[in-house]
Amino acid sequence: MISYGRQHIDQNDINSVTRILKSRLITQGPLVSKFEKELCKETGYKYASAVSNGTAALHLIGLALGWKNGDIILTTPISFLATSNSIIYSGARPEFVDIEKDFYTIDVEKLERKIKLLKKKKKKVKAIVCTDFAGHPCNWPALKKLSKRFKIKLVNDNCHSLGAQINKNKHYSSKFSDFSSLSFHPVKSITTGEGGAVLTNDKKLDRKIKLLRSHGMVKENKFELWKYEMRELGYNYRISDIQCALGVSQLKKLKKFIKKRKSIALNYDRAFKNIKNISIPKIKKNYSHAYHLYPLKINFQKFGISKKIFFKKMKQNNISLQVHYIPIHLQPYYKKKFNTKSGSFLVSENFYNQEVSLPIFYDLKKNQQEKVIKNIKKLLKI
Ligand SMILES: Cc1ncc(COP(=O)(O)O)c(C=O)c1O
Repeated sequence: MISYGRQHIDQNDINSVTRILKSRLITQGPLVSKFEKELCKETGYKYASAVSNGTAALHLIGLALGWKNGDIILTTPISFLATSNSIIYSGARPEFVDIEKDFYTIDVEKLERKIKLLKKKKKKVKAIVCTDFAGHPCNWPALKKLSKRFKIKLVNDNCHSLGAQINKNKHYSSKFSDFSSLSFHPVKSITTGEGGAVLTNDKKLDRKIKLLRSHGMVKENKFELWKYEMRELGYNYRISDIQCALGVSQLKKLKKFIKKRKSIALNYDRAFKNIKNISIPKIKKNYSHAYHLYPLKINFQKFGISKKIFFKKMKQNNISLQVHYIPIHLQPYYKKKFNTKSGSFLVSENFYNQEVSLPIFYDLKKNQQEKVIKNIKKLLKI
């Protein structure tokens, strides 16, 4: 079965993990800060905190920024549930803004209108959480202007886009956002099995993140060697040295991984460009895509086949496609809790109706790519 994404593990990864398994500390050891240092180098942020997963990273960001009951945080419906769920964890309220129709990231004009509308109602927006969807960065220069004008914090959910660039700068997120979250789930650019990270340039906030990822506990054993003190209500969101050993080793291959993802994307681009009622992913000028996903848009109605049958037939041919994402505001929990309704974010909803994530990962062979292309064309009678 060809899946939409999976990890690539080589002998160096195995050796790095084995070394740690044979060492004294398999967690809370030196590999965590080593991985954090490497992440800082890669992303340009001053501080990194490696944590148990990307969802924990987002939760900690909300806590560090002091989100609480009644705060409004803006985000988009086209992201993984974790982006928006993590807002609710802190007691705040997620409100949605539609995506741009070309790049599938937050629509900055609609965002500005929403902020102004809320302001008129005397409601202040505390932060904006933007996902660099599929590996394509948001319109960060415009977002930054908006955040300065309205004094709103910017969080980059960067779980898809490690390795992306703006103006040839892979450090772009560190220039524009206050915080960034990463995920190292096996389908992402690099993996630690499960894992994530919080990135920031603010020393105080970084300290808070590190405090909260380990029970809010400080070890002050200058006088009494056993002493530890709990200063805040924290969590166990730690990551192990075993995972960080894998992370350090994987990070060395990031460039190679992205290069391969780009070559697969180019192959799909060539196969599907200029076909009526199909849209390949567009890239904003001077942007570089990390292709965590390859979101192909197919107007199924025009091809006379339902998305359901299309998926089923692809699966019968051993190709397991995915959809990213069912718009969050259409999830039953959100409908019930926040009274969100279908028809409210039409660009996102139309995107969902047409989107198909094609297989894209380092080990995807050329003949497998051709199999995916051939089967899609056959089903659509192209
Ligand atoms: C955009 C986005 N945000 C957050 C997450 C959560 O990351 P994790 O699965 O590591 O908790 C994911 C994971 O799929 C994601 O795609």
